[in-house]
Amino acid sequence: MPAGFLVALEGIDGAGKTTQARLLVEWLRGRGFDARYTYEPTRGPFGRILRSMAHARNVDPRLEALLFAADRLHHLIRVINPLLERGLIIVSDRYLHSSLAYQSVTTGDQKWVEEINKFARRPDLGIYLDVSASGGLNRLARRRKRSRFEDEGFLERVREKYLEYVERGELVKVDAGRPVDDVFSDITSIVEEALRGRR
Ligand code: TMP
Repeated sequence: MPAGFLVALEGIDGAGKTTQARLLVEWLRGRGFDARYTYEPTRGPFGRILRSMAHARNVDPRLEALLFAADRLHHLIRVINPLLERGLIIVSDRYLHSSLAYQSVTTGDQKWVEEINKFARRPDLGIYLDVSASGGLNRLARRRKRSRFEDEGFLERVREKYLEYVERGELVKVDAGRPVDDVFSDITSIVEEALRGRR
């Protein structure tokens, strides 16, 4: 049985990751792949702590970075790795690069964020949905109360970090400021190319 494949969808808040990740899972299933949607922060023990802190003030960014890393390791051990061993394609709505981007900005220490996440394997394919901070916030405006992370200046800095990982060749950038179908069509081309020869 072939080993599985881990696709991560990344981007700042309001980039459209969840919509695209769900569409991608359906598309993969339609092509005969056994695909599964998952997300971070998870609903596991560490993810629940993170969610309870989402609107809190004065949260120490180092503690929060450790919790995101713990949540990720738990996610890998309990969910992702077992499914990969069964040969599934996992589509994760946020993964490692969310911490590398967000927590590098909140802690100001990218090397340390890399270090505490060193047990998290790189995704087989990381797709970065690029929108401007104002574009992302406009999309969120109608949705719900803003979390601490939803500040335009902050998100612009997170975006710069993501773009750094695009430059390094770890993420593939897709312009996500366009209609859903256009963005999705780029995503499926990238995934198709990455999966060529499988199944
Ligand atoms: P969500 O809106 O995609 O559920 O994510 C919740 C927030 O958590 C979002 O503002 C991004 C943030 N986040 C991090 O800062 N670091 C991480 O590692 C992850 C997974 C999410």
